[in-house]
Amino acid sequence: MTTEIDFAPEKLQKLGFLDIDVDPTLDLFEEINKLKKEKNAIILAHYYQEPDIQDIADYIGDSLGLSQEAARTEADIIVFAGVHFMAETAKMLSPHKKVILPDLKAGCSLADACPAPLFKKFKEKYPDHIVVSYVNTTAEMKTLTDICCTSTNAVQIIESIPKDQPIIFAPDINLGRYLVKKTGRDMVLWNGACMVHEIFSMEKIAKLRRQHPNALLIAHPECEEHLLATADYIGSTTGLLKFTMRSEATEFIVATEAGILHQMEKASPHKTFLPAPPENTCACNECPHMKLNTLEKLYICMKYEMPEVILPEWVIREGVKSIDRMLEISAKAGL
Ligand code: 13P
Ligand code: SF4
Repeated sequence: MTTEIDFAPEKLQKLGFLDIDVDPTLDLFEEINKLKKEKNAIILAHYYQEPDIQDIADYIGDSLGLSQEAARTEADIIVFAGVHFMAETAKMLSPHKKVILPDLKAGCSLADACPAPLFKKFKEKYPDHIVVSYVNTTAEMKTLTDICCTSTNAVQIIESIPKDQPIIFAPDINLGRYLVKKTGRDMVLWNGACMVHEIFSMEKIAKLRRQHPNALLIAHPECEEHLLATADYIGSTTGLLKFTMRSEATEFIVATEAGILHQMEKASPHKTFLPAPPENTCACNECPHMKLNTLEKLYICMKYEMPEVILPEWVIREGVKSIDRMLEISAKAGL
């Protein structure tokens, strides 16, 4: 750490954030709120962010909610407390706004599992297929995609496509398999996965279920097929949160990134939420990418308006079509 302000672009690119000490006596909540007003900035945060970031955000949501909010905001600056592909999506939807991210290195194992040049070659083998991609992809991948989807709208997106139209689904094989089962569509699947949702231990979950016989197992569709087969409810992060609010059950084993528990506990303080245990003793059910963002980095990034998400004009122009298509179908479906 340094007390000097280092704006060197190469260093910023390498570190991912501005390496500046934050005065420990500062009330960061107060300072961030001041910056929001001064700069007409909006903070959009994903449910997997640390609790302090969720608490200071103007909007907290899942991937679909965040992109809808990014498309409609009138703020001048979008501060994206999430991962890189989400901030890129916000930039594509609001290209004239400044989009900043507390740590540029906040990536995504799913997006990394599907490099655009490799996918381009793969796609050439299926010239009559259309491409549906989970939004967890790079901006360049979105230029090779016909329609994006998220875990909230994936079923509706697939069902909006004529039955005789063959589909490639990328990059999450677990979500893909779930959708094949749910919609009855036989899709060509890309073999990618999320490092967080594949870490859960079936053995430890079974033990937890024996200790809490009334607890419901709720799971994100990025989880593996064998886990989903035993789940009482499957849904996106927003779907899971809403389910815990309306369910009469009072105990839940939650198979997704542990950050969502903060909102579940806030919404239903009288209920018990148990994070599904990972294979190891590590905190592997926390996304290491999401957790690169901290309140200090959020403050520094708002103060200096860096690092910024910049995309080539052609990527925005070509890539946004697949996101717009997703938002249109979602709006028609009332999502
Ligand atoms: P949703 O926000 O669509 O539930 O997806 C979860 C996720 O893994 C985001 O990276
Ligand atoms: Fe990507 Fe998985 Fe982290 Fe979501 S939880 S950002 S899919 S690595």
